[in-house]
Order: sequence, then structure tokens, then C-alpha cells
Amino acid sequence: MMDTKTVYKGKVLVAGATGKTGQWVVKRLLHYGIAVRVFSRQSDKALRMFGEGVEIVNGKIQSTSDIARAVKGCDAVISALGSSSYSGESSPAEVDRDGVMRLVDEAVKAGVKHFGLVSSLGVTKWYHPLNLFAGVLQKKWEAEEHVREVFSKQPLSYTIVRPGGLKDGEPLQHKLHVDTGDSLWSGWINRSDVAELLVLSLWLETAKNKTFEVINETEQEQSGLEQYYALLSE
Ligand SMILES: NC(=O)c1ccc[n+]([C@@H]2O[C@H](COP(=O)([O-])OP(=O)(O)OC[C@H]3O[C@@H](n4cnc5c(N)ncnc54)[C@H](OP(=O)(O)O)[C@@H]3O)[C@@H](O)[C@H]2O)c1
Repeated sequence: MMDTKTVYKGKVLVAGATGKTGQWVVKRLLHYGIAVRVFSRQSDKALRMFGEGVEIVNGKIQSTSDIARAVKGCDAVISALGSSSYSGESSPAEVDRDGVMRLVDEAVKAGVKHFGLVSSLGVTKWYHPLNLFAGVLQKKWEAEEHVREVFSKQPLSYTIVRPGGLKDGEPLQHKLHVDTGDSLWSGWINRSDVAELLVLSLWLETAKNKTFEVINETEQEQSGLEQYYALLSE
């Protein structure tokens, strides 16, 4: 087993931290002893969830100045932001596209070196039925493209995870299936495993500048998820 307490020394901003996947990102960062700051539009909710051990910056993903405060002094950003309504401030255009893009732009200005993003299966398929929800996959695709454009420039890096349908439950309980491209139509994965993959991306060289899809293969306890990055083609 690697010494998990010493692998990554930077501070990580988690956007969407109070969401179901974001909470797992925070948990897994803390598991590895990594300094965490969370960005939330509900700091009281974040405080109740995470306690005093985590820095909290209150703000909205619509506000450039809120984001600038949040990213200042962070070495990496992991976004588990997600839209939840057809229109308004929680819509796909506002959150999945413009919010993520704004976060990318402020992060790079602040000297952030690595950007991890929760995206989705199917983002390149304009004809996918999920796009009936205000073009959500299309918006995620546009955000992905911006992440790749900005964070692929040396010495920066990115990792984009495209999960299947998200489920709750503990991490490391499933053998995973990973692939590059956009070939899968269905499948499930635990949010906790998506979180773990993004946390590992902070220090694994094999995770740098990768976009990949991931779903469960079989129920089978895992000692770690590092090996899945080694399976991805360049
Ligand atoms: N559900 C699925 O099966 C599925 C499949 C593939 C991919 N995904 C994607 O995976 C990601 C994570 O999903 P999830 O189920 O964990 O999401 P979730 O529980 O809905 O969490 C979304 C997070 O985004 C935050 N947020 C939304 N609008 C915001 C705004 N204007 N300013 C600041 N924060 C804002 C929410 O904050 P509050 O807590 O303040 O509301 C919440 O923390 C999403 O991008 C989702 O589209 C989902």
C-alpha cells in the first residue's frame, strides 16, 4: 500500500461540494489527508456537512468574484457541479457550461495546476434523449472542450470523468469498465468511485490529460482504482 498521507501536498477546491458526488470528493480528499476548500452557495449547509476541518467559501458559480475568492491559493480544482432545473440559476447552461467555464478561467488565472471534472456518458451525442433536459449533455461537452483547451497547456493538466448513471454507496466495491471515446450508452457507477478517480488524478501521471467513460463491470471489492488509469490509451 502506498503512503496515502503524503502523496499530494496541494490544496484542492471542490465545487459542487454539497452535492451527492461532491460530498464524496471531499470525503476521499480528507481520507488522503489533503487540504480541502469547498465552494458552496450554502455555507451553512457545507458547515453542517463537513464541520470546521474544511475551509468554506460561500458563493455562486454565476459570480466571477466569488469564484476568484474560492480558487485563490488552491493548487487544484475538482468540479462536481451539476444542474438541477430546466431554467434559471441551476440550469445546464448556467451550471454545466457557463459555470464550469467560469471556474476554469478563474482557476487558471489564480495559478491552479490541475482541473478535475465530473462530466457524463454520451456528451458527444447531440441526439441523446438526455439532451431533452435543456441540452444538458451538449452543455457538458462545451465545458469539457474548454477544460481541455485551457488545462492541456504544459505544465497544467486535466482529468475528465464521464460516468454512467450515478448511485450511492461505498467506494471500491466494484470492478470498473473504463474506455476512451464516447461509446457506452448505459451502465451505473457509484458516486464514491467517481470521486476516488478524480482524487487519484491529482497525483497519478497516468491520469493526466485524460477524458474517459466509466461504469461498473461486476461487484468485486477493489484494493484501489489506480490500475484503471493505466488501462486508458493515450
Ligand atoms: N445523476 C446521474 O445519474 C448522472 C449521470 C452522469 C453524470 N451526472 C453528473 O454528475 C455530476 C454530479 O451529480 P450529482 O448527482 O452528485 O449532483 P447534485 O447532487 O445535484 O450536486 C450538484 C452540485 O452543484 C451545485 N450547484 C448547482 N447550481 C449551482 C450554482 N448556481 N452555484 C453553485 N453551486 C451550484 C449544487 O449546490 P447546492 O448543494 O447548493 O444545490 C450541488 O452541490 C453532475 O454534473 C451530473 O450532471 C449525473
